Amino acid sequence: PEESAVDEAGVLHLGGVPVTELAEQYGTPLYVYDEAGLRRQIRRFIDGLNARWPESEVLFASKSFPAVGMYRVAAEEGLSVDIAGGGELRLALAAGVSPSKLHFHGNAKTDAELRMAIDAGVDTIIVDNTDELDRLERLLTKPQKLLLRVIPGVDAKTHASQATGGADSKFGLPMDQALAAIERMRAHPLLEFEGVHLHIGSQILDVEQFGEAVAKISTAGEFDVYDVGGGLGVKYTYDEVAPSVDAYLDTIVAAARAHLPSGARIMIEPGRAIVARAGVTLYRVTTVKRTGRTFVAVDGGLADQMDAALTGQRFEALLGNRALDPWTETSQLVGRQCESGDLLVDRAPLPEARVGDLAVVATTGAYGYTLANNYNGALKPAIVFVRDGAARLVARRETYEELLALHAPALEG
Ligand code: LLP
Repeated sequence: PEESAVDEAGVLHLGGVPVTELAEQYGTPLYVYDEAGLRRQIRRFIDGLNARWPESEVLFASKSFPAVGMYRVAAEEGLSVDIAGGGELRLALAAGVSPSKLHFHGNAKTDAELRMAIDAGVDTIIVDNTDELDRLERLLTKPQKLLLRVIPGVDAKTHASQATGGADSKFGLPMDQALAAIERMRAHPLLEFEGVHLHIGSQILDVEQFGEAVAKISTAGEFDVYDVGGGLGVKYTYDEVAPSVDAYLDTIVAAARAHLPSGARIMIEPGRAIVARAGVTLYRVTTVKRTGRTFVAVDGGLADQMDAALTGQRFEALLGNRALDPWTETSQLVGRQCESGDLLVDRAPLPEARVGDLAVVATTGAYGYTLANNYNGALKPAIVFVRDGAARLVARRETYEELLALHAPALEG
């Protein structure tokens, strides 16, 4: 995170708060966000896009971090919000995000969800398929703004599970079917077709791919709105190089100038690139085992960092209570879940770790909390925002009682 420093005793401070205090007060595993850094990153996107293409809108892809505390920050900073389901809709509304800032995504929206979104008055629904048009025709009683998701036919160079723009994607319609769907919307009085949406994938490190996607989408026709999705990658490991927000925006806007109508509105939907680097996860070291290799095991793992397994994402870590101690042992930083893929850092250059040390795993602000699950009976960790030397709890830790409460039908039966 931007607001981090190490004191004379070797303790890492985040947003001016020692990680040892955070762990003490809130327990571990703990998701910690540098709020000032988060807000600055949001401004980089909003100001950067507005300066280059004034008729534009930055949406936060909230699936990357759907916390009420985050929706509040997004609303305060003037971000619009992409929601992908009834749950995210409820969280965003509860946080006070204006429905006029909400854009509703999903490839399998139900009647109930569409009704919730329409009743709430969301700004745009991004239509994925023609079943959804059937539903909307049945449900709508007033005009509704719509975008149509099209498959641009760009094979993103990323992990297969993160590529969504290739010809065999389950998301959106191929170009020929898209044109028919657009005709259908244009012929219906309540279906207000505004333009097209695409999203080629996630954790994309080559910005040229975004330019390529903009060029491809322009072949669908001339519209008022082009939403070119999210997907900008971030630097996770020391050996990785990631493009800057400016390089990303430069590429998109250059492609827009070359291929899109000059009066069109451009939307982007970054998720990861807004939140990933503002967040770290604190873990307590519970076991240090020296066999052929050194395994440093912590009190969390893929249950709270699912991408370690889902996409094989690797992170970097340090010992937050001994951040000045030199690298003396190359260790496997592993979690406590019963999966061999439960590896957080491969060959971590750490001091010799001891039970009770605090492992700080960096760049975990995106897709960590949101994918957290109860594997091995794990509890969803708490979230804390730090800023100017103060910490505030924005989501508390799940409890064993809550876990048991779901099983009341069996327990009471
Ligand atoms: N827009 C749409 C329609 C999306 O589906 C996504 C992400 C985004 C925007 C934001 O993409 P981002 O800027 O965060 O890359 N579990 C996977 C990531 C799944 C991404 C899903 N869609 C992972 O953590 O790698």
